[in-house]
Amino acid sequence: MDWTGREIVLGVTGGIAAYKSAEIVSRLRHLGAHVHVIMTKNATEFVSPLTFQTLSANQVVKDTFAAPEYWNVEHVALAKLAEVFVIAPATANILAKMAAGIADDMLSTTVLATKAPVLAAPAMNTGMWTAAATQQNVRTLQSRGVRFCGPDSGLLACGDSGAGRMSEPEEIVKAIEAILRRKQDCAGLRILVTAGATRERLDPVRFLSNDSSGKMGFAIAEAARDRGADVTVVYGNVSVPVPAGIRAIPIESAMDLYETMLREAPAHDAVIQAAAVADYRAEQVSGEKIKKKQGEKWTLTLVENPDIAAAVGKIKKPGQVFAGFAAETEHLQEHAAAKLRKKNLDFIVANDVTRPGAGFNVDTNIASILTETDVTDYPLQSKRELAEEILNRILKIRAGGQSDAD
Ligand code: PMT
Repeated sequence: MDWTGREIVLGVTGGIAAYKSAEIVSRLRHLGAHVHVIMTKNATEFVSPLTFQTLSANQVVKDTFAAPEYWNVEHVALAKLAEVFVIAPATANILAKMAAGIADDMLSTTVLATKAPVLAAPAMNTGMWTAAATQQNVRTLQSRGVRFCGPDSGLLACGDSGAGRMSEPEEIVKAIEAILRRKQDCAGLRILVTAGATRERLDPVRFLSNDSSGKMGFAIAEAARDRGADVTVVYGNVSVPVPAGIRAIPIESAMDLYETMLREAPAHDAVIQAAAVADYRAEQVSGEKIKKKQGEKWTLTLVENPDIAAAVGKIKKPGQVFAGFAAETEHLQEHAAAKLRKKNLDFIVANDVTRPGAGFNVDTNIASILTETDVTDYPLQSKRELAEEILNRILKIRAGGQSDAD
């Protein structure tokens, strides 16, 4: 990869591993990148700013109490300049501030303002790393697209042994390279994804629903976002956080989804329906909690919900790619093929939800992608990996190819 002139901002926080960050700067400079270092006040206690200034051949931005006017100019400039924003070492403190959106010094202010991909290389004592608060912060940051490199396990500066060592500079530089190499092949595309489970109300406290967690739909939305698409996700009930950097529209019932999709679909280049939608809803929704009648059976009358995918398929625009899912428990390909035709889909992702590691509420899936002309089987893989395959397929169709063999 040609690193010449690539703009890397490196945030250094206060930990003993700060000395290793000097090597990151040195390696990046050697490759030809421009490196801009921001040090927290605590970081300057561990390593002299002069070290980073000399290695980066740039002024080091430090926290000074000269603050507001200086910050306004400098933090926005670096936030905009960064192609990758690296924080190494990343202490528990900076992770907590980033998760909470706290901007009380130069580094936290700049990282909050940046639109660049952020890579954190944590370094801290094992107890701090495994603390529930830190792990929660890491999950929050990951759900917003922050990437992590490490930490590694080994002997720590405090004498403990365990997870918490900052990754080696070589690994961190590799992680930066992976981000810079990332495909932006969905840039300029508007992609609409549905995720999660619809809920069909029976009364104010009861509903009919299903086991969808939103993981599959959100994995597609995240992958599309990371590949540069402008993403809208319409989501029902989910058990994982809604991804950041995405326009998100919550819905409850199939009827809500129906209205939202008819409104939103025409403005998108690709539509992927991964939500698990109820085929039926209660004919009568009680305004009050339905009382139990001792010894009596409760007969519920259900009426059919509209087939949302079929309705979207009817208004499909030329050039628009339309994909659906089929959640099956038997005759997977036969049923999926029927849905492909009925809903006017370009392709359907069929998953047998009875297979271990596939379907509802797991991080993996086993799927087949069916078009009018071919079937491609995908073995057990993460939902994110399957999401990438789905996006590849969309791009291939847009480029004029139908099948995987094209
Ligand atoms: O969310 P996760 O826990 O990660 O689980 C993922 C998943 C199992 C929900 C996902 O992989 C999946 O299979 N989604 C489709 C679920 C579903 O509703 O399948 P279906 O075979 O009943 O419907 C076929 C297609 O028509 C789907 O694209 C569905 O969104 C759509 N549909 C269904 C009913 C309806 N009334 N309108 C629709 O548009």
